[in-house]
Amino acid sequence: MQNILENEIPHIKFKDVSFSYPGGKEDLIFKCNFSIKKPGFWMVIGKNGSGKSTFLKLINGIIKPKNGFVNSKANIGMVFQNPDHQILMPNCRTELLINLNQNISQNEINKKIEYVLDQVGMTGFEKRPVHTLSGGQKQRLTIACALISNRNFILLDEPTALLDQTSQLKVLQTIKNLTSDKSKPLSALWITHRYEELTYADAVAELKNGSLSIWQKPSEFKYN
Ligand SMILES: Nc1ncnc2c1ncn2[C@@H]1O[C@H](COP(=O)(O)OP(=O)(O)O)[C@@H](O)[C@H]1O
Ligand SMILES: [Mg+2]
Repeated sequence: MQNILENEIPHIKFKDVSFSYPGGKEDLIFKCNFSIKKPGFWMVIGKNGSGKSTFLKLINGIIKPKNGFVNSKANIGMVFQNPDHQILMPNCRTELLINLNQNISQNEINKKIEYVLDQVGMTGFEKRPVHTLSGGQKQRLTIACALISNRNFILLDEPTALLDQTSQLKVLQTIKNLTSDKSKPLSALWITHRYEELTYADAVAELKNGSLSIWQKPSEFKYN
């Protein structure tokens, strides 16, 4: 089944969103406002414990705000810090297949698998057992899984935290390419605590004291 959102531009909007965990820090997220209305590579930087993962959970609806409104009009895919917590199947093809979830012919399935592996720089990896992949290749497989299920907005929660520098750069470049593809641009929101990653983004904001700063150009970004 074709997803109805496939060709729509995703919109995400927070209006005065506040959230705290029961018994946790009061107003971990506090009167947070922001919006994303166009495709691109968006990055949010924040210190450990500043609420970055919580912020993503509010976007994808895993948790609900205590106050304010979240409007997520997008077909959201997730990429977590540790791909081993996300990948379920023994090889690339079967992992992609369980994410496909569409009633299409074998021929179309094969074409899609080839296409998404190519998009993440893993052409020819279809039969590779997952345990033979590097951390960066596993992360790129999880991105391919989001693509094959027609996600138009990918949330990445510190996806390079466990990677060496070469793999880190490949994953960054993969998202950069996908978000700047003029024919079918993707939106990606990348969470990081690594300052050096910001240069890849189209826009950068800081999560601090529960709120998100305004979007800034990476070259003009300053910590609050
Ligand atoms: N499920 C939970 N229940 C209670 N407290 C939580 C839960 N998840 C996270 N926290 C707390 O909320 C704060 C922010 O966590 P998190 O959003 O994971 O921050 P970050 O991703 O920026 O490191 C931390 O103090 C953390 O211990
Ligand atoms: Mg986190």
